[in-house]
Amino acid sequence: MILILFGPPGAGKGTQADLLKDKFNLLHLSTGDILREEVSNNTNLGQQAKKFMDSGELVTDELIIGMIKNKIDSTTNVEGFLFDGFPRTISQAEALDSMLLSNNLNVDKVISLEVDDDILTERLLSRGRSDDNEETIKNRLNVYKNQTLPIKDYYLKNNKLVEVKGDGSVEDVNATIVSSIS
Ligand code: AP5
Repeated sequence: MILILFGPPGAGKGTQADLLKDKFNLLHLSTGDILREEVSNNTNLGQQAKKFMDSGELVTDELIIGMIKNKIDSTTNVEGFLFDGFPRTISQAEALDSMLLSNNLNVDKVISLEVDDDILTERLLSRGRSDDNEETIKNRLNVYKNQTLPIKDYYLKNNKLVEVKGDGSVEDVNATIVSSIS
């Protein structure tokens, strides 16, 4: 199974991914987590990504697509992938489709978590990650609307998209996602 958790910063993608990956034995690939690890290991990729992440801009498609391709090509023994925070641009969505196609796979479902901006901001401010300050959150939300939201149409056209209200409890949101997958 190939699942994508889609939604704005703070929608609960990572929280829900933690629950879903075990339930369905999927490899959880969070581009944000992978990038933060590269930054903390001070790798070449981490050094290139850091300035974009600190300001809430997107890291370049080229870096992200290469990073995901390495992960897919080097993975065996899983029943599928759970993408979190990827794809974030139409180019990334198209690249994912062609990477999967070359392995005879395709995206099964895109779960779009829907949460209002004021709740997102409140959640992120109380989490307090280094990019969770007011200015960066504002930019992350703008970047999401301008560069990432258009992907919803891409997946709607392919009949892959399911919208799930993400403002209930973690357990309720999870139950809705699970029933929309099964
Ligand atoms: P990334 O790490 O992907 O950040 P994000 O999309 O902004 O998402 P978050 O991790 O902030 O939120 P989330 O939806 O996972 O919510 P979470 O479960 O953590 O990306 C960071 C940066 O990396 C980007 O800005 C960009 O620079 C770069 N990047 C990453 N991927 C990229 C890509 N593909 N292309 C280009 N650049 C890329 O929850 C948030 C908080 O809310 C937590 O405290 C949680 O406990 C709480 N919470 C969750 N669910 C609930 C609930 N139901 N009720 C109450 N609280 C809840």
